[in-house]
Amino acid sequence: MTARRKSGILISGRGSNMAALIDACKAPDFPAEISVVISNRADAPGLERARSDGIATAVVDHRQFDDRPAFEEQLDRTLRDHGVEIVCNAGFMRLLTEFFVQKWYNRQINIHPSLLPAYTGLHTHERILQDGVRITGCTVHFVRTEMDAGPIIAQAAVPVLTTDTPDTLADRVLAAEHAVYPLALRLVAEGRARVVGDKVVLDCGDHATEPLYSPPITQICAVPAGSQS
Ligand code: GRF
Repeated sequence: MTARRKSGILISGRGSNMAALIDACKAPDFPAEISVVISNRADAPGLERARSDGIATAVVDHRQFDDRPAFEEQLDRTLRDHGVEIVCNAGFMRLLTEFFVQKWYNRQINIHPSLLPAYTGLHTHERILQDGVRITGCTVHFVRTEMDAGPIIAQAAVPVLTTDTPDTLADRVLAAEHAVYPLALRLVAEGRARVVGDKVVLDCGDHATEPLYSPPITQICAVPAGSQS
């Protein structure tokens, strides 16, 4: 197998997507490895999980820097110190400026809990329920300076149930996030997700539908036996 691509994960909190990436990298044939997990908050629970897996961690606290460029320089330096080639944002709650985005252009990916370009920003699940949307999901995309925007690598579709609360919907979407983020990292690490113009062109060989997870319609709304005419 060719060398595994060294990856760094940026977190701010719980780190369940981080954990999904760490776990995926344990497979011997996975094309990436996690070299460092960096949090902008020292109390992020994800840091402890990373440490328990023997992964190097670092805290780059944005409040200890005079301005965004100084913060981002330290982030960048820490990633480079660990030989990072691909950056994965996983619940990282700082907006990044052009300075950082350019340094990691097409080498930095993010996961967002909606089917982008719909529902960028925070409180996605509340807004989706308010709007009566029937299908939502999650998206992994390359990072651009505009929030939750950039060429889309992979998406997963998730049904919205009439009984859902923001929490139950968030749990269902999160389960999809944990499946789709490792898939997207694999595609990027293998060089199978190339940015052409403002879109991603995928080389999926015989698995053309791989980057889209979608529940079968029967699972969303099972038709009772005998009711079809
Ligand atoms: C996830 O829903 C992710 O899509 C969003 O922030 C949340 C982070 O959760 N960007 P976790 O820290 O990965 O558990």
